[in-house]
Amino acid sequence: MRTFHRELGRVAMRAREYAVATYSGFKVGAALMTASGKVYTGCNVESSSYGLTLCAERVALFKAISDGERKFKAIAIATDAAVPTPPCGACRQVLSDLAGNIEVITMNTENTLAVHRLNKLLPHAFTARHLGLRRTKKSR
Ligand code: THU
Repeated sequence: MRTFHRELGRVAMRAREYAVATYSGFKVGAALMTASGKVYTGCNVESSSYGLTLCAERVALFKAISDGERKFKAIAIATDAAVPTPPCGACRQVLSDLAGNIEVITMNTENTLAVHRLNKLLPHAFTARHLGLRRTKKSR
């Protein structure tokens, strides 16, 4: 456990305050750190058509990607659950696709912290390689 893990967790906790959790009441915040140390935040945003809800992790990731970022170091996820919550399966897949094997820090309002590696949370990940696609610099 390093100081930046806790600091990133605190940023995620602040981002959680903006969550729109109208239907579940479950507020989530995320803070994604780029390789250069810049931090992008996200919160979950729910829709009345439940399935259109976006998780905090993907909001943070898409904000960063749409800002031209492509290299990432860690993501912190903050909730008020008794056990700090790891990312859902959909977010694991998208993080694996776009952020690689980053550190995943989970934190709750009691300041309980855990640090994981994405490849431990998503072993044997499905990747672009399985599609047989040859990625060129241009298509990346
Ligand atoms: N949620 C996230 O934001 N991240 C996760 O990894 C798990 C679930 C959100 C989606 C929904 O708004 C609420 O938490 C309950 O599932």
